[in-house]
Amino acid sequence: MNTYSAAIIGYGRMARGHLNGYKEAGIPVVAAADISEEALGRFRGDTGTEQTYTDYRGMLDEVRPDLISIVTHDRLHCTMVVDAAERGVSGIICEKPMAMNLEEADRMLDACRGCGAKLTVSHQRYYMPQYAQARELIAEGAIGKIRSAEAYLLPSCIHTDGTHTIHMLLSLLGNPRVSHLLAQVDAHSGHVYYDHRVEDAGVAFIAFDNQVYAQLSWGLASREPRTSLSPVQNFRYHRFVICGDTGRLELDGDAPVGETPILRIVRGAAIEAVALSPRKGAITLEIEDLVRSVETNVPHPLDGQNGRDVLEVIMAIYESARRRCVIQFPLAVKDNPFLAMCETGEFPP
Ligand SMILES: NC(=O)c1ccc[n+]([C@@H]2O[C@H](COP(=O)([O-])OP(=O)(O)OC[C@H]3O[C@@H](n4cnc5c(N)ncnc54)[C@H](O)[C@@H]3O)[C@@H](O)[C@H]2O)c1
Repeated sequence: MNTYSAAIIGYGRMARGHLNGYKEAGIPVVAAADISEEALGRFRGDTGTEQTYTDYRGMLDEVRPDLISIVTHDRLHCTMVVDAAERGVSGIICEKPMAMNLEEADRMLDACRGCGAKLTVSHQRYYMPQYAQARELIAEGAIGKIRSAEAYLLPSCIHTDGTHTIHMLLSLLGNPRVSHLLAQVDAHSGHVYYDHRVEDAGVAFIAFDNQVYAQLSWGLASREPRTSLSPVQNFRYHRFVICGDTGRLELDGDAPVGETPILRIVRGAAIEAVALSPRKGAITLEIEDLVRSVETNVPHPLDGQNGRDVLEVIMAIYESARRRCVIQFPLAVKDNPFLAMCETGEFPP
């Protein structure tokens, strides 16, 4: 894969994961753009590459990379993806969440389709062994026909962290079409994360066209003492229980540091632990699929449309909270109902 060159926009906390992914995929990262000189110094130190820019558009025009990773805060994703597509980048990895609302997501999809750029949204957990093996087991019939699912997210925002939860839930269930959902959120603490307001907690009931349903909860049941809105307290990030007619799959997807994730199949009283097989890095596999998609036009499993499907569920959860009613799919509104509620003062500043 050394006929390609890559560049990174935003060299903060998450960018090293992208740098390592390109390294493992054998693709040179030839430049980076960041408004912070300190971040650019870190990039030069990490790579020995001197091509650094404070203006990402200038970098795209001069360097003309084949691939780009956009690793900036959530509000910047839309403009940067559109700019990269319009400047001829062939493959774009955009960090999650894809966008702030569906209007932005549609602009990103239109620009990429119009310019022939392949867009992926970095729900990279898809490639981690625990999630990949869980999908394979379910697809092979290890729990029979899927009936229902539970999903828990420890952190407090379905848009930023929970985008992974929704993505994994949909992919574990085989990406069924959502029929309708009912949800509520609590956002009374004024919590700001990645430069935008987020909620403290929420619950959702999601029904799918294939008669499967899922229940989801995230965040804090109470702020003082801080209590998770989950019956299970000893997980770090995501937890899933997928119930089939012959058994259930339990997945503690993100184990505490130093521990391995738990994947097991439960049939009656019998518990079968599943050994996890090591794989390449998740972002490496995401990049390799992006190159394949650029070369052969096969859809990327994390493509822009997949990212939009996830964002639609998130925005529908917020719309259900705004209208206090069941939301039918496809979602009709294109704004961000949660941020709109913050602006109108429904949640205190
Ligand atoms: N996929 C995951 O598992 C995962 C994990 C963490 C974060 N993220 C996402 O990655 C994104 C970045 O998160 P982070 O934790 O690395 O943030 P960060 O704050 O550590 O880094 C962001 C970088 O972007 C730079 N930046 C800001 N404005 C810019 C501009 N106009 N042009 C170029 N650079 C600019 C900042 O100076 C900073 O260095 C966020 O959208 C976040 O939600 C994803």
